[in-house]
Amino acid sequence: MNYRHGFHAGNHADVLKHLVLVALLDALKRKDAAFFVLDTHAGRGRYDLRGDQARRTGEAASGFVRLREAQPAGPPALRAYLEAVAECDPGEAMSYPGSPLLVAHALRDQDRLAACELQPDEAAALKTVLAGDPRCHVHNRDGYAAVKALLPPREGNTRFARGLVLIDPPYEVQEGEYAPIVAALREGLERFPQGIYALWYPIKRRATLQPLMRKIAALPARSALTIELLVRPDDSPLRMNGSGMLILNPPWQLDAAIEPTLRPLAQAMGEAGASWRLTWLKQEPA
Ligand SMILES: C[S@@+](CC[C@H](N)C(=O)[O-])C[C@H]1O[C@@H](n2cnc3c(N)ncnc32)[C@H](O)[C@@H]1O
Repeated sequence: MNYRHGFHAGNHADVLKHLVLVALLDALKRKDAAFFVLDTHAGRGRYDLRGDQARRTGEAASGFVRLREAQPAGPPALRAYLEAVAECDPGEAMSYPGSPLLVAHALRDQDRLAACELQPDEAAALKTVLAGDPRCHVHNRDGYAAVKALLPPREGNTRFARGLVLIDPPYEVQEGEYAPIVAALREGLERFPQGIYALWYPIKRRATLQPLMRKIAALPARSALTIELLVRPDDSPLRMNGSGMLILNPPWQLDAAIEPTLRPLAQAMGEAGASWRLTWLKQEPA
């Protein structure tokens, strides 16, 4: 595997993914009962925005850094995301948090995180970032297999009634990732049907995603929502023109919280022809 998230951390796709992640965590925290988060593809947890990888691609500069500089007077979910990123940065606004660090930042004493990362050096870096936090466990293992091993979530004899599974694969071969994703979602829903499942996906041409979406819509989740941000028209199959978050069993009013953030995101990070959309693939009967 050649993928290293450091080249992409803080790009427009990370911004969308992490804004939705923070909103999901905020929704889980509306109740006192403990929750469990499984981050199947966790990465190294913190990324240096001044480092070689970030500078080589400039993706953070045209993504998160541009959004932060635009200082959008945004809706609450956008403010919550920007605050969470700032609070995860120990220095002078020079690092960007990965998903496991954003989760760790949100956890309460009773909540737990299991973060899986296949690359040994990335997993070792993540262990350092989360060292000393007894609520967080880093596993140097395949995140898809962890869906079977770690769900339904439990600690000793206690089962967690609530939880979130974040699936954020590298898509080195885009269509090649679809089969393990669908299998993991199916397995997860069987083992932990009440869980929230969040899948990040890249968008080159939107139309090519239809087979994946049809398969996911047929899974036995109560509801399925997609949230997409395209920073340019999806007319090039060679570039990542945008990305999406697919949420199975989304919490109540997630769509209403996220919808007003998408215009300011597109204005800050988009080019001509940027667009956004929220689509229910499946909705619970009223
Ligand atoms: C897109 S990055 C994750 C970024 C992270 N979720 C975040 O938001 O900050 C994907 C990560 O998955 C790792 N990876 C690839 N295949 C994996 C697998 N089967 N199981 C666990 N990790 C995997 C890669 O090494 C990479 O660090």
